[in-house]
Amino acid sequence: MKALIVYYTMAGRTKKTAHAIASALTNYEVTFVPIELPGNFFQKIQVFDDFEKGKFSLIEDELNSLDAANFDLVFFGMPTYGNKPPGTFHEIMKRMKNFSGKKVIIFTTARFTGKGTLEYMKEKIEAEGAVVINQYNFRRFFWIGKKRAIEFGKEIN
Ligand SMILES: Cc1cc2nc3c(=O)[nH]c(=O)nc-3n(C[C@H](O)[C@H](O)[C@H](O)COP(=O)(O)O)c2cc1C
Repeated sequence: MKALIVYYTMAGRTKKTAHAIASALTNYEVTFVPIELPGNFFQKIQVFDDFEKGKFSLIEDELNSLDAANFDLVFFGMPTYGNKPPGTFHEIMKRMKNFSGKKVIIFTTARFTGKGTLEYMKEKIEAEGAVVINQYNFRRFFWIGKKRAIEFGKEIN
């Protein structure tokens, strides 16, 4: 079976979590579409700002590659910014091809609360005709370990 994992990361916590989940998906061939903000802190903030303004030229290739057609499962991993996913999540929803009817798993990484992010993502995904079958809020103030992500991956596998 095949799984697509689309994730967004600024500081690396969501990337780490996405890869830990994937490591447990032994029954799946996993394809990643990583959206990683490049550069140092100030460059990342600049890119984040561009994205929030709807300027996505830096990630056109990633956005154009979003196609669920060949996948049995689609994962979305987003950080929590102000109890929501980053604005780029909207663009991902807009650009995702062959998405209707797909089984979807969502997760967020957060420091205080990621509940609103998951609710928000689920609503948008289901509005596109896909079904959220599982979700997880990886919430830790400091260090995000891999243990819970691997357990979650095993459960899905
Ligand atoms: C601008 C900004 C806003 C954030 N807002 C929240 C928030 O509302 N709730 C929360 O729990 N964490 C919040 N965080 C913390 C991030 O969700 C958390 O560190 C996340 O794991 C970062 O993921 P990343 O390392 O993949 O970029 C915020 C971080 C930033 C930079």
